[in-house]
Amino acid sequence: MDNAFRYQDGELFCEGVAVRDIARQVGTPFYLYSSFAFCSRLNDYEKAFGNYPHLVCFAVKSNSNLAVLNLMANQGAGADIVSGGELFRALRSGFPADRIVYSGVGKTIPEIREAIGAGILMFNVESMQELEEISRQARILGKRARISFRVNPDVNPKTHPYISTGLKKNKFGMPMGMALEAYRMAMDMDGIDIIGIDCHIGSQLTDLAPFVDALDRVKSLLVDIESFGIELDYIDIGGGLGIKYHEENAPSPGEYVRAILDHMDGLEHKIIIEPGRSIAGNAGILVTSVINIKDTGTKKFIIVDAAMNDLARPSLYEAYHAIHPVSRGDAVHEAVDIVGPICESGDFLARNRLFPRIARGDLLSVFSAGAYGFTMSSNYNSRPRAAEVLVRGQEFAVVRARETYDDLIRGEKVLDWTCERL
Ligand code: LLP
Repeated sequence: MDNAFRYQDGELFCEGVAVRDIARQVGTPFYLYSSFAFCSRLNDYEKAFGNYPHLVCFAVKSNSNLAVLNLMANQGAGADIVSGGELFRALRSGFPADRIVYSGVGKTIPEIREAIGAGILMFNVESMQELEEISRQARILGKRARISFRVNPDVNPKTHPYISTGLKKNKFGMPMGMALEAYRMAMDMDGIDIIGIDCHIGSQLTDLAPFVDALDRVKSLLVDIESFGIELDYIDIGGGLGIKYHEENAPSPGEYVRAILDHMDGLEHKIIIEPGRSIAGNAGILVTSVINIKDTGTKKFIIVDAAMNDLARPSLYEAYHAIHPVSRGDAVHEAVDIVGPICESGDFLARNRLFPRIARGDLLSVFSAGAYGFTMSSNYNSRPRAAEVLVRGQEFAVVRARETYDDLIRGEKVLDWTCERL
């Protein structure tokens, strides 16, 4: 978090702005991002690569707010996208097309056409079928498409099963055993320029060994590929570096990059990485207010105005997010569940948490919410999605307005039908 969020005299600040002041003006719940935290994490990656040729492609899925993306683009990052919608956002926010890589396990024909049309740096291709489609569309558009194959190195990232991707049983990538043949076939395909090799093994990895194993496997395949005359420019090793949510000991971007560079064994291929969480995760918090406090005799529930539709991670992965009052208070702690108003028992932000005594109306902040927070939010229970706010130094700006009830029903219509045959 690089102390972008810190307490001064018991009050939580984001850089130079008191969180309470923002809440007063914006209302709750809202996501709050520190531009300093975003930039300093990106800079950690940049510094660690130094002069080694590289491109840091920010994973748009982790935080796709236009202002955040624009900040990353202005700092020289590229973008890793997985859909036409993310391509649209990446271009709108100012990423040059030649800094955009397109991963994703199921690219549709319109999405492929949009990306070829835009002239992105490369497609990370998942299968021969997909490659044939890319080639066909490139020919129709009279353009060329640059590609890497995404290979599946079959290493265990030792992370939550929903976010591990580089095992044989996962849907992602092409088995190593098939990749050589795929490269050979791609050589003769119209409209295709083969420029790299790609893998991504999972997310929230707190151990560097699986990254290095995956790189070793990719490197040996690369040597085989180049032995039949294809020269690759890029090795894309995906994203996945973990962060500290609670008690994890996550390596820093610098340690991660050094481990990669130490294993390049004299190869000089340009390295692409696709970090999302390790840049965005601790650059954002979710600010919420206490609606009610309910003591059932068995349990104490703090009911807040943010819910699983705003931050799905606790419900979906049983993920831990630190939660603290915006104004530090009572030293007495008691065990509570912090829950949202949604009609599901799975709607919780924290369970059995020791928490200081607080009151109705108090503000709480949910930490490490900058990645996979807003981007995974929904309108479940017809809840308008939260506002997003970006801070820089002493200033802040609402970079996504809180949704209104009208936003909730946009595109819907009432037909005033009754059922014909009952
Ligand atoms: N590249 C590819 C191809 C990916 O699939 C992902 C994440 C990334 C890069 C970025 O990974 P990161 O550096 O953020 O770990 N919703 C889950 C995380 C899903 C990650 C999916 N892919 C969560 O909240 O934990």
